[in-house]
Amino acid sequence: MTSAAARRGHAVFHDLKVADIRRLTPDAVAVTFAVPPELRAAYGFRAGQHLALRIPTGTDGGASDRRTYSICSPEDPEPAELTVGVREVADGACSPYVNRRLAPGETLPVLTPAGRFGLRGTPVPGGRYGAVVGGSGITPVLSIAATLLGRHPRARFCLVRSDRSADSAMFLEEVADLKDRYPDRLQVVQSLSREEQQAGLTAGRLDAARLAELLPALLPVAEVAGWFLCGPFGLIQQAERGLRALGVPRGRIHEEIFHVDDAPAPEPAAGDAPEHSTLTATLAGRSGSWPLRPGEKLLDAVLRARPDAPYACRGGVCGTCRAFLVRGEVRMDRSYALEPDELAAGYVLACQSHPVTEQVELDFDR
Ligand code: FES
Repeated sequence: MTSAAARRGHAVFHDLKVADIRRLTPDAVAVTFAVPPELRAAYGFRAGQHLALRIPTGTDGGASDRRTYSICSPEDPEPAELTVGVREVADGACSPYVNRRLAPGETLPVLTPAGRFGLRGTPVPGGRYGAVVGGSGITPVLSIAATLLGRHPRARFCLVRSDRSADSAMFLEEVADLKDRYPDRLQVVQSLSREEQQAGLTAGRLDAARLAELLPALLPVAEVAGWFLCGPFGLIQQAERGLRALGVPRGRIHEEIFHVDDAPAPEPAAGDAPEHSTLTATLAGRSGSWPLRPGEKLLDAVLRARPDAPYACRGGVCGTCRAFLVRGEVRMDRSYALEPDELAAGYVLACQSHPVTEQVELDFDR
């Protein structure tokens, strides 16, 4: 993490002006925000991170909702601009506004970058990396690939992307430019699930069995230092199964889920909640304690007193509400946003956590 990001502790909203909106596909745009000089250090980001936007949802301009969108540009500790990819979701509350109504010159509240998807530690010199992405999952992986290839002259990257059709594939030009720049070090394989003319291993839906056959034909799987899986829950689950079947250790697999529509429903409460419990939380250096209401999630309790508490999806997917569990025990409904090492280190998602002990303490600044 950059020192600026480390000092920041948790993400904070600032108003940023839309500098440009570029159509990528009939249902997706790239939105570029201008970052004023005094905020550039605060918006320094690691490849793979995302921004949460507060987007108007009503006609009177009063109501709003939050959504996270991944940054597609290469890692930058002090960016003058930030670009995110936004695909329109049918009946979505926010993405139709971004795709059809948002215009250059408008201002939106944008959270400073958050998210743990991406490179961990120092990349292996001359290392091989691989990615399996579906649909808009290309967005953060474009940033990761461009960063790795740009900074490490011997790094190699194999990108397997799955899209419904060539028309619906986001960032085609950017991937082609990257391929032109690094023809020997970037390998791109595209699978189009709805195009009949395609044949062979990449035809149709990429499932675990097909990936377990395809990947060894593309690269020496055992030599790959890191795998990045990004897209809908079903594809990530299949890709992880395929990689595990090939003997890839879980620690080399990094995942970011974009849609959990096809994920199993959260486990029902096991009746382990204490009758009364108290939450203590530290946020931006200030601490407070509050009684928890029956069935309440920790984030909701914090938000009653501290509306500046960081969150975006509230669904256990984006990781914006990540906090360190200092004391006590919690039960999480879902935790798709945390890697196994983060869970082992004691991090939890406040939006998914219920108390198991009478005293629970969270630190959002760690
Ligand atoms: S707000 Fe997204 S994981 Fe909690």
